[in-house]
Amino acid sequence: MKLERMDKILAARTAYSRKDAKKLVWQGRVRHNGKIASSPDAKVDLEKDTLELDGKPLLIQAHLYLMMNKPAGVLSAARDPKQPTVLDLVPEQYRRTGLFPAGRLDKDTEGFVLITDDGEFAHRILSPKKHVPKTYCARIDGPMTAQMEEGFSKGVVLEDGTLCKPAQLTILEEAEQPLCRIVLTQGMYHQVKRMFLAYGRRVLWLKREAIGGLWLDETLAPGESREIQDVEMKMLLGKI
Ligand code: URA
Repeated sequence: MKLERMDKILAARTAYSRKDAKKLVWQGRVRHNGKIASSPDAKVDLEKDTLELDGKPLLIQAHLYLMMNKPAGVLSAARDPKQPTVLDLVPEQYRRTGLFPAGRLDKDTEGFVLITDDGEFAHRILSPKKHVPKTYCARIDGPMTAQMEEGFSKGVVLEDGTLCKPAQLTILEEAEQPLCRIVLTQGMYHQVKRMFLAYGRRVLWLKREAIGGLWLDETLAPGESREIQDVEMKMLLGKI
């Protein structure tokens, strides 16, 4: 059982302040386990109770974990005064305070972004010490060479001299502009692009396909998101 005051939950899970959350209850707009609530200080069990505001269910569990298929052209930042961000794409029913994208993709990169309000979990996914692999698919502007394949498997030396950890490289499509899959266990700035650039190749298109053992749900259109299921949380951490 995890009990929390109703007005506190309402303020955390909606755009209303704590003061306005109390008013919502007094105005009879909130239902607790199906019945109209009368007291904003009533205790709500985050694990099994339900809350509705104006007839719409509120997600009240302690933390939220969303899988988003980020489109190119959108920043994977929390907020930006000028440009659209992944948080602007989060559907109304999932909006709550404290959400942020766990890890960054470049503006022109597409694919799997984890959006959560759980800082501790995000750290487990992102910390280089935890080695949670990230899988990318890239189209590059020139053919692959044996030297590149060897370099990726041993650790690419970037143009600034930084030595990367070994990465898996698989060619998915042999072509003038080949398609390949890259699995990284570290997350340096522009890492995939810089690794290819070390061999004079430019990345023409880049998509993150998986975090840990959890693959992007391909039924999500660019810009769409959905909740990550409990079993998928274990896949994220590579536990199944
Ligand atoms: N590597 C890159 O170069 N860009 C990304 O967005 C992610 C990994």
